[in-house]
Formats: sequence, structure tokens, C-alpha cells
Amino acid sequence: MKKNILMTGSSGLIGAALLKHLTKEGYSVSLLKRSKVLNANEFFWDPSRGEFDNLALKGIDLVVHLAGEPIAQRWSSSAKKRIVNSRVNGTRLLAEKIAQSQALPSLICASGTNYYGDQPEGVVDESSPPGLGFLAEVCRQWESAANPAIEAGVRVVFMRTGIVLSGQGGALAKMLPFFKAGLGGRIGHGRQKMSWISLPDLVSAYVFAVENVSVQGAVNAVAPEPVTNSKFTKTLGKVLGRPTVFPLPSGLVKIFFGEMGRETVLSNLGVLPKSLTELGFEWQQAELEIALKQTLS
Ligand SMILES: NC(=O)c1ccc[n+]([C@@H]2O[C@H](COP(=O)([O-])OP(=O)(O)OC[C@H]3O[C@@H](n4cnc5c(N)ncnc54)[C@H](OP(=O)(O)O)[C@@H]3O)[C@@H](O)[C@H]2O)c1
Repeated sequence: MKKNILMTGSSGLIGAALLKHLTKEGYSVSLLKRSKVLNANEFFWDPSRGEFDNLALKGIDLVVHLAGEPIAQRWSSSAKKRIVNSRVNGTRLLAEKIAQSQALPSLICASGTNYYGDQPEGVVDESSPPGLGFLAEVCRQWESAANPAIEAGVRVVFMRTGIVLSGQGGALAKMLPFFKAGLGGRIGHGRQKMSWISLPDLVSAYVFAVENVSVQGAVNAVAPEPVTNSKFTKTLGKVLGRPTVFPLPSGLVKIFFGEMGRETVLSNLGVLPKSLTELGFEWQQAELEIALKQTLS
């Protein structure tokens, strides 16, 4: 029997792709939405006010929680509050409601590889401690907010996700116009590692976590090998058939994007998917060039 799934953040880049896939595969998916205009199988919640329609969890086997204020914006103090609070309040509210429910559905919660912070000295896996910086702290608090569910004995998975490759949204979509115009280039010195995953592989990783009860705790949702920013830049240029000779100096990144630029595109984030590898997950787009070709075709 296919599982009954409740999902938050279904209108986002990952949520829309996952919802489409799960529905096609015959799962019954209902949605938690912040809008008061609701269709069948949609339920209201407002994490900022602690409001939650308890009917949403009725008959649910598993909750997939993706909602959160976008990270890619200038981090004013009010934006930072929204980024933290949307994740911490939403996750805590869900975890408490799950813990109070009779069926104790599993919780699969998004998180980010930024959990590990800037790692100038090499690569990390799920056993590595949290790093420093705003995003690392967001991820740490985001995951801790699920404690009420963990304490109630619920299976909780944290999908520590790398840069998701999609032409429709996220980091790659923002870079594309520059690269297509031949204005792309490495960022900073270009030696910083990037951990990425194709959107179809990420959807498969979520389905893998839905179906395998042995998936529990932190899971790095990234391709098997991180690449340097220079390698990423060259590969994207090759796939698009465009030169990549205009480096973006780190000084300009800091001026235009501030702290956000420093913690994302300038950070060394070499993350290995130890858990997915050990559990036997198979990537369809493990090579960057193939992933970019298929993403942009
Ligand atoms: N894309 C990536 O490269 C990437 C990498 C690492 C981690 N992640 C994490 O994975 C999750 C999903 O990513 P995504 O790329 O699909 O994100 P997204 O496109 O920005 O969508 C996130 C969804 O969260 C909900 N949302 C937005 N602002 C909110 C707020 N202030 N309070 C509560 N809910 C809010 C919205 O759904 P509703 O309008 O339906 O509520 C939105 O569609 C996010 O938490 C993100 O941080 C993404």
C-alpha cells in the first residue's frame, strides 16, 4: 500500500517536483498551506502564529517538511529573523503535533549542507559537528526543533541538502543568464568546494527516505563528489558552449551579497553522502557534466 503523506512547502522548487513525482507514483499526498483558500486535501497552518488544523494528520503515515523563508536574499536583520523563525517555529509546531498524535507518523525534514559551515580543511560527512556562521546556526536550530518528535520515538530524517540543480529555480537558475551571455566565471579564487545534487536525484532521495525505515537522522543529500567552483564554472560553460573568462572577485560578492554571499558561494562546502552511500542509494546523475546537460536540455 502506498503511504499517505502530508507535505509543507509544496509550492517551492523541491516541493513542486516531489509532489508531482509522488502523485504520479500513486501516493496520496495532502498539503499544509499558509493560504486560507484551500482545495480538497489541503489543510491550513500558520507556523508564525502556531496555528495548525489537527485534521491534517488524520491517517497520515509520513510528513515531508520543506517550508521555510527563502535563503537567497539580502540578510537584513528582519530577513534573518524570518529565515530562522519560519524554520524553527514550523518544525517545532509539526514535531509537537506529531508527538501528540496517536499514529506517530515519520518526519522527513529539509535541512542544508550549510549545517557544517565553511570547511577550509577538506570534506565532511554526517558524523561531522555543526560549523560556525549564520546558516550553520539556522540548520542546527532547525534540526533541534524536531526534538519533540524524536523524544516521542518518531523516525525523523534531516535531509541536509546541497545546491539543487534546476533551470527553474535556485542558485543555478540565477547564474544562467550571465553564463548564457558569456559573462560567467569562477567566484573568488574558485578553489572552494560546492556540494550539489540534481533535482531528480534529490526527489529520489526523498522517496528513498519515505520508503526505507532504516533511513534515520542526518542524511547528506548531495552527489557523491563535491567539485570546486572552478570545475563547476568550466563544466557549466562547456555544457552551454560559452566562455567563462569573467571571474567574480570575492570583494564584489561581499559588496553585492554581503554575509549571504560569504556563507554560500564563497564557503568551502565539501560534503560527502556517507549515509546514502552506505544505505545503497543509487544516483542517476552522479556526474556534474551529465547532470547539467540533462538539467538544461
Ligand atoms: N533549493 C536548494 O538548493 C536547497 C538547498 C538546501 C536546503 N534547501 C531547503 O529545502 C527546503 C525547500 O527548498 P526549496 O528550494 O523548494 O525552497 P523554496 O522554493 O524557497 O520553497 C519553500 C516553500 O516554503 C514556504 N515558505 C516560504 N516562505 C515561508 C515562510 N516565511 N514561512 C513558512 N513557509 C514559507 C513556501 O511554501 P507554501 O507557500 O506552500 O507554504 C515555499 O514554497 C527549504 O527549507 C530550503 O531551505 C533547499
